Order: sequence, then structure tokens, then C-alpha cells
Amino acid sequence: MIVSASLLSADFSNLEKEVKAVEKAGADWLHLDIMDGRFVPNITFGPLVVKAIRPHTRMVFDAHLMIENPSAYIDAFAEAGADMITIHFEADVHAHRTLCRIKEKGLKAGVSVNPATPVSVLEEILPFADMALIMSVNPGFPAQKLIETSFDKVAKLKALADKVNPGLIIETDGGVNEKTASRLAEAGAGALVAGSYIFGAENYEKPVKYLKSL
Ligand code: DX5
Ligand code: ZN
Repeated sequence: MIVSASLLSADFSNLEKEVKAVEKAGADWLHLDIMDGRFVPNITFGPLVVKAIRPHTRMVFDAHLMIENPSAYIDAFAEAGADMITIHFEADVHAHRTLCRIKEKGLKAGVSVNPATPVSVLEEILPFADMALIMSVNPGFPAQKLIETSFDKVAKLKALADKVNPGLIIETDGGVNEKTASRLAEAGAGALVAGSYIFGAENYEKPVKYLKSL
């Protein structure tokens, strides 16, 4: 299992320390939640912060763009040091063009769906994606409860991916913890995002180790 630690639940007054600690704990990827106050009701940070933490870690930067008009910001996040960029299917009527643009930049490209969006809409775009991200909560905030139908949704996506893109990485985001993670793994998730479960622990190594073992 690939573990993507979501920076959203870190101590923002000391990002360098937090990033180094979570890397030392064994996290594979650093999940960067970019929110614009429009696509989601919260605002976080932009390329400037991504660039500032880039020199402090070798972790893969997994940027999750919860913003409108994501195509306008691909270059900025690529230049800031993102290794993968995931856009929301709902935020871009030209998702195919944007995924191709991300790949042209030499990055891995992901596409995400909100809880209310069925995975079936991804059928035509999946062959062009390296990753698909299932939101298992409504995006915007950390530490929410996973929506129970998400397990089924991951399994549906896995079946679809097996047909159209068997190499696709399936990532899930929201409410991942010791109660939900193994069920997500069984359903077909290959990468798990975890924020409050990791950063809320006294010792980051424990939750990271557990998730990696799945
Ligand atoms: C929510 C973000 C998530 C968030 C997950 O909108 O996309 O990445 O950090 O937080 P937890 O793991 O605490 O549910
Ligand atoms: Zn996220």
C-alpha cells in the first residue's frame, strides 16, 4: 500500500519539521490539499508553500487540486515541485486536455470524483490517467467520517480500471483510519491518503506502518 500523508492536518507553524517527521515515519507521498474557497468551502495554500517545502523532503508530492479552472494552475504547481497533480472531474469540462497537459510537463496525472459523482463518468478519461482519486468524504475539511458507500465505489472503479486501464492507481481520500483502511484495501485501493489519522497520532510511525502493511 502506498501511504500519502495529508499535510492538511499538520502543524502549519512548523511545516519543515512536520514534513521531515512524516518522511522519517515512512510515508511514501506527501498529499497537498489545494483549496480555493470556490470549488470547496475552504481555502488552504498555493504553489508558494509547495515550493517552500520542496527542498526539505524527497517524498513524492501528490497535489490534490480542489479548485475551479485547474488547467490555469498546472504550470505553477509543476514549477513549484509537484510530482503528481490530481484535478477534479467536476471542475473541468476539458479534463482530457488538462490530464494531457500534466503529462506533457513530465508529471503523473490524476482525476478525482466527489462522493455524489458516479465512477461511470470516468470511463473515457481513465485510459489517460495515471491515478483516480475517490473522495470518501465531501472535500474541504480534515477529520470527517468516511461515507459508507465509498467501499463499493472503490470496487466499482477497480472493475472499470481492470477493463480500460489495469495500471491505474486507485487512491482514496477522507476518513482513512484503522477502522476503514483494510476495507478500502480489499475493495481495490492502491494508495491511501491519511491526514488526521497520521498527524493526530503521538508517534507518526504507528499509523504509517499500519497503512503500509495493508
Ligand atoms: C479533504 C482533503 C483530505 C483531508 C483528509 O478535503 O482532500 O486530503 O486532508 O483528511 P482526513 O484523513 O483527516 O480525513
Ligand atoms: Zn485531498
